[in-house]
Amino acid sequence: MNTPNTLSLHPDEAVTTISRHIYGHFSEHLGRCIYGGFWNTERATFREDVIAALKEIRIPNLRWPGGCFADEYHWRDGIGPRTSRPSMVNTNWGGVTENNHFGTHEFLDLCERLGTEPYICGNVGSGTVQELAEWVEYVNFDGISPRADERRTNGRKKPWNVKYWGVGNESWGCGGHMRPEFYADEFRRYATYCRNYGGNRLYKIACGANVDDYKWTEALLKNTPHHLMQGLSLHYYTTNWTDKGPATSFDEAGWFDTLQRTFKMGELLERHGALMDHYDPQRKIGLIVDEWGTWFNVEPGTNPGFLYQQNTLRDALVAGIHLHLFHSHAERVHMANLAQTVNVLQAVLLTDGPTLIKTPTWHVFEMYKGHQDAQNIPLHLACGEYTLEGKTLPALHASASKSTDGSILLTLCNLHASDAQPLTVNLGAVLASVTGRTLTADALDTHNTAAHPNAIAPQPFEGAILSGKTLTLTVPARSVTALTLK
Ligand code: AHR
Repeated sequence: MNTPNTLSLHPDEAVTTISRHIYGHFSEHLGRCIYGGFWNTERATFREDVIAALKEIRIPNLRWPGGCFADEYHWRDGIGPRTSRPSMVNTNWGGVTENNHFGTHEFLDLCERLGTEPYICGNVGSGTVQELAEWVEYVNFDGISPRADERRTNGRKKPWNVKYWGVGNESWGCGGHMRPEFYADEFRRYATYCRNYGGNRLYKIACGANVDDYKWTEALLKNTPHHLMQGLSLHYYTTNWTDKGPATSFDEAGWFDTLQRTFKMGELLERHGALMDHYDPQRKIGLIVDEWGTWFNVEPGTNPGFLYQQNTLRDALVAGIHLHLFHSHAERVHMANLAQTVNVLQAVLLTDGPTLIKTPTWHVFEMYKGHQDAQNIPLHLACGEYTLEGKTLPALHASASKSTDGSILLTLCNLHASDAQPLTVNLGAVLASVTGRTLTADALDTHNTAAHPNAIAPQPFEGAILSGKTLTLTVPARSVTALTLK
């Protein structure tokens, strides 16, 4: 007999804020993310459609310029008149020539247009302490200094006051293949000379572990003075590195396998979090998951170095579950950044010439935006299993939060490829109304294209019945559902 699915919410125990920065994004000089994504190369200006779509989901922060690119990037090449900026070879991503037309001013102006916090990742692998220190001064110093004066000459009078700075990226890999003890010493030097200017207190993020390299995390926590490090990063991609498989045209086994890999994030948050609790019991240091998302084979016929992949209902489930996992660790996870915003990996947006396509992942970020800065509601979910070829997953996954106006946002993922799930929710409070939307489709790999931009988009969900403290509904198979209760 199937287990009845029941969910109990405890809104009175909601004390932890889900930082809006958990809904952050990542944009690298990679493929068509910057050029063709954010930047209209022909007109040398921003893509207004991309800005509008990102504002709709209230993007809270944007990480740049990489990724691996960050440790080969020399910021001085990206300032001053565009025509006199030197070019470079983007050796990490397709060996293409980077003309540096999108640099510091373009990025920070973009963030201002988006109303989002910039997160700049500095070059530790091939840069110098002086270079990074001067970048901070150029961007943040309001007084008279060679770098601040140069910024003014380049057209920006006031500093941008950038708070979030990454000290290297994947320093255990593309960022220099360092050993953790060596990186910890490098971090001490770089972080020391990244100065606070005016009232702007920097939030310095040390390069954290590759997936489950717990030794890296421990070495960093042991060997780095904690006052220098406000955040420690973690990277995990939902992929099978030996056979990534296609982003579309997969079967149920491909669906199941990807969803199963998604839950690895929960284990990583637990175990890195436990180490952090040991060395930082007051939880001052944030766990910053600044790269996450799916990584499939590139679309046939596209440059393998550009990491351009389609985005389906499966990606929507991956996004929904990840966000739930981040919520449930919100006391430690201060920020997360989906890789990567436009045209790369699990993008929220795809461009096809002048056409903009909102992916199923964009829709999840839109449906979930009410969780940003809301209080995480502790919950208990007892649900049936989704079994395939002898392996099991929970059929449902849930998260809930309480806004300042007392309303509750309940988000539900039904992982099961074919079975709807009846669910009874004890809300723990009497609420008067419920409205909802659900994102689903007939085929597991349903996706949006220029020809069919709304092949998958959320539809009103009318099937939830509210009676006092109890909500009953049937969660559609293979879906992400968001319910607002007032
Ligand atoms: O997001 C693509 C790449 O994945 C990033 O540049 C790097 O940090 C990671 O390995």
